[in-house]
Amino acid sequence: MSVCEYKPGLEGIPAAQSSISYVDGQKGILEYRGIRIEELAAKSTFLETAYLLIWGELPSKEELAAFEEEVRLHRRIKYRIRDMMKCFPESGHPMDALQASAAALGLFYSLRDLHNPAYIRDSVVRLIATIPTMVAAFQLMRKGNDPVRPRDDLDYSANFLYMLDEKEPDPLAAKIFDICLILHVEHTMNASTFSARVTASTLTDPYAVVASAVGTLGGPLHGGANEEVIQMLEDIGSVANVRPYVEDLIQRKAKIMGFGHRVYKVKDPRATILQNLAEELFSKFGEDKYYEIAQEMERVVAEKLGHKGIYPNVDFYSGLVYRKMGIPTDLFTPIFAIARVAGWLAHWKEQLEENRIFRPTQVYNGQHEAPYIPIDQR
Ligand code: CMC
Repeated sequence: MSVCEYKPGLEGIPAAQSSISYVDGQKGILEYRGIRIEELAAKSTFLETAYLLIWGELPSKEELAAFEEEVRLHRRIKYRIRDMMKCFPESGHPMDALQASAAALGLFYSLRDLHNPAYIRDSVVRLIATIPTMVAAFQLMRKGNDPVRPRDDLDYSANFLYMLDEKEPDPLAAKIFDICLILHVEHTMNASTFSARVTASTLTDPYAVVASAVGTLGGPLHGGANEEVIQMLEDIGSVANVRPYVEDLIQRKAKIMGFGHRVYKVKDPRATILQNLAEELFSKFGEDKYYEIAQEMERVVAEKLGHKGIYPNVDFYSGLVYRKMGIPTDLFTPIFAIARVAGWLAHWKEQLEENRIFRPTQVYNGQHEAPYIPIDQR
């Protein structure tokens, strides 16, 4: 076998053949199963888009109604999972709570029948249905409250917002939240999806697949950036501070959170839609104090780093949208996971259809024939 060139971060190396989504990083285009993200954000719902991604085609009216109903019927979590979550420390990060809870589901559904379409469907429904319930349950329990039961009369997104603080959400907020889930549901071979596919390729169960992907999503270079953006806007504090703050980060060669992308060299199309959604929320509920700072940051970073293709990514404006809905900052990444689980499951299914275990190679740069030195001589 020929010696291949090592590419840090596997940049530009295809890890799979996939028909789930497509990105053109130069033109700022994102498609799910060939449909532009802008069109889905304007016309679809999260569950319809999830169906499209997982089963490859838009559902008929009957298929969508059946899928929505199945998800509705599986929203409740077992009391043993709730009891387990009650023992989690309230100071723990909700992403860690989610990872542990998703993995724990595997204890209850240990039968593995990966070639059975019914098993695939049941697992997809169960994960999409219960992940929001687990996120909301941890949120209430860490405040010392009992989790609330899902409300069958509310749709997917409205129910999640309701479960967070037992209050029926404003319809505009619920609609915008649903669009946010569409924008976060899938994004080709990113780190957490790669993680999901690697785990899937061992033919383990889908709960392990999702748990490993949740763990990967949490890092600040991936989904965790949305929390760091709010922290950064807080630190900056005023429009006047933006320029010196950005200049200082650039001078220290530090990363500016919410900017830059391995694939996009223009503004992420999801950031454009999220900014519009933020403005829609602000016009109804009042502007966020950080919005002006964010806009100035976008201008200054474009001026300083535009030549390197550094523009806002999906994580830059999403936090402002969630903040306006009153959602705590450390739930932003779990919300990303609520959406992305459907993308991971689409990749899980696709991986199983033509599976070969991931087993890449490495470039060994250590020594050979090294002597073993007895411990008292080291
Ligand atoms: N701020 C300042 N400079 C940057 C940034 C940034 N956010 N991103 C990239 N660069 C510069 C980097 O310094 C380097 O410059 P040079 O060539 O002069 O050394 C060049 O751009 C290439 O950077 P890289 O680190 O090799 O790029 P990458 O493709 O490995 O990293 C990234 C992509 C998303 C990890 C990175 O842009 C980053 O760390 N961004 C901040 C964290 C963030 O917002 N993450 C969310 C990503 S999008 C959603 C998601 O994945 O969840």
